[in-house]
Amino acid sequence: MGKETVKANMVVDKAFQISEIDPRVYGSFIEHLGRAVYGGIYEPNHPTADENGFRQDVLDLVKELQVPIVRYPGGNMVSAYNWEDGVGPKEDRPKRLELAWRVIETNQVGTNEFAQWAQKANTDVMMAVNLGTRGIDAARNLLEYCNHPGGTYWSDLRKSHGFENPHNIKTWCLGNEMDGPWQVGQKTAHEYGRLAYETGKAMRLVDPDIELVTCGSSNSQMPTFPDWEAETLEHTYEIADYISLHQYYGNRSGDTANFLAKSLDMENFIQTVIATCDYIKAKKRSKKTMYLSFDEWNVWFHSNEQDKQIDPWTIAPPQLEDVYTFEDALLIGSMLNTMLRHSDRVKIACMAQLVNVIAPIMTDNGGNAWKQSIFYPYYYTSVYGRGVALHPVVDSPKYDSKDFTDVPYLDPSVVYNEEKEELVIFATNRHLKHTLEVDIDVRSFEDYEVVEHVVLENDDAKAVNTAKQENVKPHTNGESYLDGGKLVGIFPKFSWNMVRLKKKQ
Ligand code: AHR
Repeated sequence: MGKETVKANMVVDKAFQISEIDPRVYGSFIEHLGRAVYGGIYEPNHPTADENGFRQDVLDLVKELQVPIVRYPGGNMVSAYNWEDGVGPKEDRPKRLELAWRVIETNQVGTNEFAQWAQKANTDVMMAVNLGTRGIDAARNLLEYCNHPGGTYWSDLRKSHGFENPHNIKTWCLGNEMDGPWQVGQKTAHEYGRLAYETGKAMRLVDPDIELVTCGSSNSQMPTFPDWEAETLEHTYEIADYISLHQYYGNRSGDTANFLAKSLDMENFIQTVIATCDYIKAKKRSKKTMYLSFDEWNVWFHSNEQDKQIDPWTIAPPQLEDVYTFEDALLIGSMLNTMLRHSDRVKIACMAQLVNVIAPIMTDNGGNAWKQSIFYPYYYTSVYGRGVALHPVVDSPKYDSKDFTDVPYLDPSVVYNEEKEELVIFATNRHLKHTLEVDIDVRSFEDYEVVEHVVLENDDAKAVNTAKQENVKPHTNGESYLDGGKLVGIFPKFSWNMVRLKKKQ
């Protein structure tokens, strides 16, 4: 075929089931930070704004991504947030110094507006409570305000604010990154464990149907990882349903092969958290399994330097506005693959974030909304990666990079959608020079045909999209084909792919 190829093998079988995929693994995150809220989802003077001030062009893109859940309102911001500032008549809401990002928060958007936006975006809210400067009381009041039907102080206050029906928010985060020295109100593991347990206990008394996420380490490089997990879970194991993981990667040294291997670090992170949870389970003789909420993940480094130039105490400055490259999109594809291969334990994940702030969707104030390179693997995996994750048995050639050894060139995940009779293979080819030709034994999928092979490829690792020009976008001319009972996956050098097979009608 005139291209240099490297061979790999893979076996895919209906019987090799990992788990039903929880759709919430395709969640995202909106923090009161930069232009995520103001100028992102909310811009009352924008030509597409609806009666509530929500940008319709942004809502359309969010709906296109089929985001099932969005974490809110932070992030670091939540650790000094007074939720009461963001409810009631807008003209009475105070302007505050927002300490995490050193901006002015106008509070023109708060709990009710976000719940309203979420409804329009066909998504659920994942609410975080402030365990930095506040605690049990503020958390239980907020929950009563959001979820109690009426007849009490906080639920009637919500009604008086124009929201007759409760928001019924199911998933709640017990603080954010409480081990981080950058956090307002940082805690030791013991302090956090006790506070999170007591807060969770009170919240469950208000509403027994909620689910709770306890804070794990802020990332896998924290010096206290994974002791933090072990010590905090000693307190929170029985009250929490999930433990959080956060991780961002970057390519500061410009080493693409090493950068593409960073999903192996994510793999290791997930495995270590699972092992720690299961250790506490064994220690407590518990029958309960702790699930993982990877509620912040992405590439984040491009904007670090420019953010240092931003003056403090302005309103909605352009913070954390990473412009994503083609190679970033490939790592995003592999991070999604990694989580799907752990879908028996990773039940929630939030790409951080959704609009303008380290985001797949960007906006110009008063102008257009547009798609970053990372939009695409997120979009395809969210839309087509629904069903049961299958365990791909992979035999791939490998390489070594600066920080990793034995990095497989082929990085796949496989999803079987029984209802639609579809088999979907997502695959990153990490090889920078050669096509991967993969013999895929799809023996249990008789009478299936290839209906689509989407490829994201580019000769320029640093290619980016802008408001005016889309340089990184997928095409559907992938060349994978069926040969008897075998699927031949043709994955071009340095590419992300989705091959979709469907049962013949
Ligand atoms: O998503 C940006 C920030 O990253 C969040 O506010 C914080 O939780 C994390 O450190």
